[in-house]
Amino acid sequence: TRTAAVIPAAGRGVRLGPGAPKALRTLGGTPMLIHAVRALAASRAVSLVVVVAPPDGTAEVKSLLDAHALPERTDFLLVPGGESRQESVRLGLDALPPGYDIVLVHDAARPLVPVDTVDAVIEAVREGAPAVVPALPLADTVKEVEPAATQGEPEPVLATPERARLRAVQTPQGFDRATLIRAHETVTDDVTDDAGMVEQLGVTVVVVPGHEEAFKVTRPLDLVLAEAVLARRRL
Ligand code: C5P
Repeated sequence: TRTAAVIPAAGRGVRLGPGAPKALRTLGGTPMLIHAVRALAASRAVSLVVVVAPPDGTAEVKSLLDAHALPERTDFLLVPGGESRQESVRLGLDALPPGYDIVLVHDAARPLVPVDTVDAVIEAVREGAPAVVPALPLADTVKEVEPAATQGEPEPVLATPERARLRAVQTPQGFDRATLIRAHETVTDDVTDDAGMVEQLGVTVVVVPGHEEAFKVTRPLDLVLAEAVLARRRL
């Protein structure tokens, strides 16, 4: 069975502050998207990477992919993204050629995921799990609140889920291709990850250990951390 990776990279990255689309911001001088593509292509099991680009930035992404050396054993496809992450992933899936039975979905915003995490996800799908997510225990206690109508107002706490049972999920999330496609055809509710759609089908999703360095670059502080992680790797 062959494995393909879909990388949604069409978000604006509003929470990161003004500037280029998030995936095109640089870390250590290299665009985040290129880091993410390399991180997935580093797995010997991944033979196709589908990059879902900002619709108005497809030409720019194409020249970036052409300009950066990527492994010869890996093929690339480039497709324009959509309005939501969910739509972008679906457009990536629509472009998948036959023959790839395992599909990974990986946020361009997680540029530093170690190859061991990628391989652990693929391995769990190969062993029969239809949906696999890497995840970590939480450092913070989490509270469910009644969201305030106006920002900054105090919010009543509704519940405190037991922290030891919670996991913060990362990507790449790995799927049996048919299951993921069925999820995208069936589920219309807004979800923040692909595994959540598979759960709504009633299919069991399993968690494997994630990695601290697979964190999502979302806010300005995350850029500082990402630069520090890269610098440490280059020592
Ligand atoms: O916004 P969030 O951080 O959840 O985005 C996660 C990933 O989804 C990012 O890599 C982003 O580029 C991608 N995305 C996308 N198309 C959108 C919105 C987000 O490909 N319309």
